[in-house]
Amino acid sequence: MTDLNARKILVTSALPYANGSIHLGHLLEYIQTDIWVRFQKARGHMCTYVCADDAHGTAIMLRAEKEGITPEEQIARVKAEHETDFADFQIAFDNFHSTHSEENRELSATIYKACRDKGHIATRNIKQLYDPVKELFLADRYIKGNCPKCDAEDQYGDNCEVCGATYTPAELKKPYSVISGATPVEKESEHFFFKLPDFQDFLKEWTRSGTLQDEVANKLSEWLDSGLQEWDISRDAPYFGFEIPDAPGKYFYVWLDAPIGYMASFKNLCDRRDDLSFDDYWKPDSDAEVYHFIGKDIINFHALFWPSMLSAANFRTPTAVNAHGFVTVNGAKMSKSRGTFIKARTYLNHLNPTYLRYYFAAKLGSSVDDFDLNLEDFVQRVNSDLVNKLINIASRTANFIKKSGGVLSENCAEEAMVNDFINAGDQIAELYEKREFSRAMKEIMTLADRANEYIQAKAPWAMSKEEGREQEVLEVCSVAVNLFRQLMTYLSPVLPELADKTAAFLNLESLGWEDRRSILTGHAINKFKPMLARAEMDKVTAILEETKTELEKENGGAAAAKNQKADKKADNKSEKKAKSKGPELREDGNEVIADTIGFPDFAKVDLRIARIIKADHVEGADKLLQLTLDIGNGETRNVFSGIKAAYKPEDLEGKLTVMVANLAPRKMKFGLSEGMVLAAGPGGSEIYLLEPHDGAQPGMRVM
Ligand code: MSP
Ligand code: ZN
Repeated sequence: MTDLNARKILVTSALPYANGSIHLGHLLEYIQTDIWVRFQKARGHMCTYVCADDAHGTAIMLRAEKEGITPEEQIARVKAEHETDFADFQIAFDNFHSTHSEENRELSATIYKACRDKGHIATRNIKQLYDPVKELFLADRYIKGNCPKCDAEDQYGDNCEVCGATYTPAELKKPYSVISGATPVEKESEHFFFKLPDFQDFLKEWTRSGTLQDEVANKLSEWLDSGLQEWDISRDAPYFGFEIPDAPGKYFYVWLDAPIGYMASFKNLCDRRDDLSFDDYWKPDSDAEVYHFIGKDIINFHALFWPSMLSAANFRTPTAVNAHGFVTVNGAKMSKSRGTFIKARTYLNHLNPTYLRYYFAAKLGSSVDDFDLNLEDFVQRVNSDLVNKLINIASRTANFIKKSGGVLSENCAEEAMVNDFINAGDQIAELYEKREFSRAMKEIMTLADRANEYIQAKAPWAMSKEEGREQEVLEVCSVAVNLFRQLMTYLSPVLPELADKTAAFLNLESLGWEDRRSILTGHAINKFKPMLARAEMDKVTAILEETKTELEKENGGAAAAKNQKADKKADNKSEKKAKSKGPELREDGNEVIADTIGFPDFAKVDLRIARIIKADHVEGADKLLQLTLDIGNGETRNVFSGIKAAYKPEDLEGKLTVMVANLAPRKMKFGLSEGMVLAAGPGGSEIYLLEPHDGAQPGMRVM
């Protein structure tokens, strides 16, 4: 029988790059999507969840080269790893494909040609930096050099992490290619552009038609009002990707064919399934729904380029694009050196995925706010909610039913209460639908509290010791088991493994959302088996340790300074982003991550006690104070420090602090800075200079 109310829903998560492992940041997205999909399926809708590896681009090509394998081998390896990681986190794709597939090649060509034939593609020559040794055009992140403003060394091609200047890679002094070390030369070549401005009016309408979260639509409208730019969709050979039709040697930029990969994965599935038709979902007037779940960094690709391309090629556009924020761990960006850049596999080596699925659900709403995974709160929360509250309901009562013959009572002794639980499911369903998972979990845990209060008040364990109360014990425990069944039904999208165990325990085929409406009476159940062990903090510690060890292995102890730099740059970036409200958008690139250093590297840093003997404003500098430091043995140093918003010069004079004494002197606009003082804090007026305790003397070495 086909259900006429059943919706046809196609859901995607962003396609992970095929050059790295899945980590906890990714998992927020895949778990969020998987919960929503499982919820739709539990409700009886025709919901299909597809994904794929994002296999193209320079980074993947270079990674394969480094490993001494072909790009095809590289992406096959990573795909196998990704699929196992996802399966082990109980993320149940209906299909996991690759953007490097025939379906995607064909669909990309179709969409491109449609855009071209309608006049939405322009071509023109552009100049770019080129690595003459590697014979490769260099994206900004592959070029480094000296800052054009302050001459700091080893700065990336977009901004200087020392003085904060922004510029183009061509402006860098002494530029070099990160890949070969060669000096880049400027070279001209023809590029293809997607004429996004053609879609200005369409996008103004589309972005305001309920397809986006308000905060996202607001951010985009700033851009839409200030005018859109054409999008460069071509890359020159050598490039791992699809050649552009009728343009030998030119390849689609990875972000052109990546979202088309959603369609390609679905197409690949439709070809194997009789009950799914590609056109039915993608024709312009389709009555199916299409949802993309993505991180806030890739909104422009999904909410500007993607709907424009689709509409130009006469395909339907997404019903909604659902963006989420970024995972931080213990309040900070995930970092390798802190051991918080945790891979999916490292987590699985120590902890049950159920914990993480629950914690994500318990704290995730529908906004683009960042998500903080606080590790202590994580352990405490899953234990108190899942073990102490939820499973306790069954574990305290199931055995009494078993003892009395294993069949639930013929009557329901608390029909009103069980019905309250059943009715609560409608409200909980609405919350799931709106991706308000944390609110849904709160509702469910409130019900769990109520169930526990009931059991506590009845105390069947005490009753069972009194003669003649067997029936009462059975009735109370049968109520408890019914309540447990309601709760597990509501949690089944989040905790599929526990839901399966519950179905087995309750002798039910599954925990479908609508099935919950019948109360279980006179129903034989099975023996209750322990469902979930407590989460332990020492396992979390082991994860952090293993993450740090992985890093040491990757580095072989070297490259520490580089990693510290990467850490700093990443922190700077996230600081900048944190200040800009709303979704942040990124160019295609790889994450910059931080690594640990060994003691020998640490010991290279000459940290010394210094006395600030003079502090002055610097004319023309908004952020800097000029400090004169006494570092013992009659030696003084001149240091510029960005603490002006936090300190008045006169308050600093005479104070002790800590400085890095062997930092290479740096030429700045205002003079030579001979070291660095240490401070902590988020920035701006919240910066705190480190202050040694009494007894410390200028010149003492800090260890
Ligand atoms: N390949 C592109 C997506 C193409 S979609 C047509 C990409 N890949 S990614 O591997 O970098 O990221 C995959 C998804 O994970 C993105 O939605 C991204 O926002 C998300 N996340 C990556 N790191 C994350 C966190 N630290 N926190 C939350 N989500 C994160 O982008
Ligand atoms: Zn600079």
